[in-house]
Amino acid sequence: MKTKVAINASSGKMGQQVINQTVVNKDAELVAAFCRPNHRLLGRQVGFTDISYTSDINTGLANSQVVIDFSLPEATLNLLTIARQTKTPALIGTTGFNKQQIEQITQAANEIPLLLAPNTSIGVNSVLVLLASAARMLGKKADIEIIESHHKHKLDAPSGTAIRMGEAIAEAMGENFDDLKVTDSRFEKRSREKGEIGMSVIRAGEIIGEHKIMFALDNEIINIEHKALNRHCFAEGAVSAAIWLADKPAGFYTMQDYLADN
Ligand SMILES: NC(=O)c1ccc[n+]([C@@H]2O[C@H](COP(=O)([O-])OP(=O)(O)OC[C@H]3O[C@@H](n4cnc5c(N)ncnc54)[C@H](OP(=O)(O)O)[C@@H]3O)[C@@H](O)[C@H]2O)c1
Repeated sequence: MKTKVAINASSGKMGQQVINQTVVNKDAELVAAFCRPNHRLLGRQVGFTDISYTSDINTGLANSQVVIDFSLPEATLNLLTIARQTKTPALIGTTGFNKQQIEQITQAANEIPLLLAPNTSIGVNSVLVLLASAARMLGKKADIEIIESHHKHKLDAPSGTAIRMGEAIAEAMGENFDDLKVTDSRFEKRSREKGEIGMSVIRAGEIIGEHKIMFALDNEIINIEHKALNRHCFAEGAVSAAIWLADKPAGFYTMQDYLADN
């Protein structure tokens, strides 16, 4: 049986990719594609499907078994308010949440299955495992730098993926990421300490997403790098994980939970 999928913010760059991946996935059926009430797509046919773009999130969620969201924090929280009422599982790929918003998302996971993933690509989630291993061996001896590059339109910085990578490194070192991360103290005229995690951000052109993690020792450098060549990698992982999430009990899930089970 196909899983009935609704897509929030379907007008966005990721929303359009997720539509494409849902349509080609043999285990998924696209049942709703949401856009804002005043959007030019409203009422138009979604590709070659028999559904139209809608702003009626209540009805769309009531008819679906899972919703996929790549939007902005405010739009995600609006969606979750309705998803809690309709009991619709939700995969959230949006990034840029503050601590209070993360708390609200965590609360929603008491009522619905909820997967929060700052990066839904299989490659980046494999890199997280490699980083933990590298950090256990090298973390306390190295200068660690996470250098992330994205297109000029991206609103949040550092990227959700870079933050997740920093957290994975810090966890593996038995430390708290907030205690190790350095964003601007390099400009405070002090030399850096071993084990600090520097965060460097580049916003330029139409770069889809690149993350390079450097473990610099005194005489050698180890780099671990991921480049998204297109947005398919995020959409493909999101749709597969959403299908997996649809029949899970209420709770908070990550891509690592999905990958461990598949
Ligand atoms: N998890 C991952 O693997 C991954 C990968 C790529 C991107 N992302 C994240 O996904 C998010 C979207 O990225 P994108 O590149 O698709 O951005 P985008 O092209 O700018 O799309 C944003 C979408 O959100 C909608 N939106 C914005 N504010 C809204 C509101 N208040 N209410 C309802 N809808 C609203 C926009 O609607 P309009 O068209 O009406 O403006 C649009 O559909 C970002 O947070 C990005 O960092 C995550």
